Amino acid sequence: ASTLGASAAQTGRYYGAAIAAGRLGDSTYTRILNTEFNSVTPENEMKWDATEPSQGRFTYTNGDRILNQGLSNGSKVRGHALLWHAQQPGWAQALSGSALRNAAINHVTQVATHYKGKIYAWDVVNEAFADGGSGGRRDSNLQRTGNDWIEAAFRAARAADPAAKLCYNDYNTDGINAKSTGIFNMVRDFKSRGVPIDCVGFQSHLGTGIDSTYQANLKRFADLGVDVQITELDIEQGGNQANIYSTVTKACLAVSRCTGITVWGIRDTDSWRTGANPLLFDGSGNKKPAYTAVLNAL
Ligand code: XIL
Repeated sequence: ASTLGASAAQTGRYYGAAIAAGRLGDSTYTRILNTEFNSVTPENEMKWDATEPSQGRFTYTNGDRILNQGLSNGSKVRGHALLWHAQQPGWAQALSGSALRNAAINHVTQVATHYKGKIYAWDVVNEAFADGGSGGRRDSNLQRTGNDWIEAAFRAARAADPAAKLCYNDYNTDGINAKSTGIFNMVRDFKSRGVPIDCVGFQSHLGTGIDSTYQANLKRFADLGVDVQITELDIEQGGNQANIYSTVTKACLAVSRCTGITVWGIRDTDSWRTGANPLLFDGSGNKKPAYTAVLNAL
């Protein structure tokens, strides 16, 4: 097939992009989006600060724009992200203890209910594990409400939208390492105790190299009985960019439960990684060698 989405669909997968509501008026942007991608993720529009700017008052205008853009194009929509230590509204940052726990679970319930039946997969919890060698949880206001905050969030999300796949999503999990093993142990525990979890997202914000255990890491999670998805892919431009994009694509295709890949933006100029030129299209919307490498690998 001649587009990323159609090529991925040949093996039952999707190829998606993170998109921004504020860019949907850009005709080059929407042309590429509508032609190439069959999944969308809101880059910021469904985060806590965007959807509940003051406690108990929910605003879905921009999230709905992303949703409708995706649905009208026949795309899947990945919801991102119900709970995260970053991009919290100020009122939530000021809470702690049971007040924060209750507010967080209410947030999960309300947002997942608003989008009920429309979301392919939700990043229920984002970036809850620490970097480095500990393999433990990241310290955050949410973590300080008790170690069970993650399972409470997943149970609330399942109750609100039983059709959505529920994912845990994180970065620096691009190989078998202490952080990814900590997450692996949590997923194994959740599966053994019946805590609802369906998928693990590997953000994959990569530099100029890739861990040799990238595919083996995806596989060990899939073997736990969850889907795996590459959720925020971008790769620093350097001599190897196209090769690394190809390696990541092939790794997903080699793991039957790897259901799709999302790149974190469309053109280099849309990227949050200023100066890295980490995406598949240049600032003018032209296909880069990395694009061709992905299309050939799919
Ligand atoms: C980033 C967005 O791309 C930026 O626009 C925003 O200013 C900060 O967040 N991990 C995630 C994403 O899960 O939500 C982040 O997105 C990038 C890192």
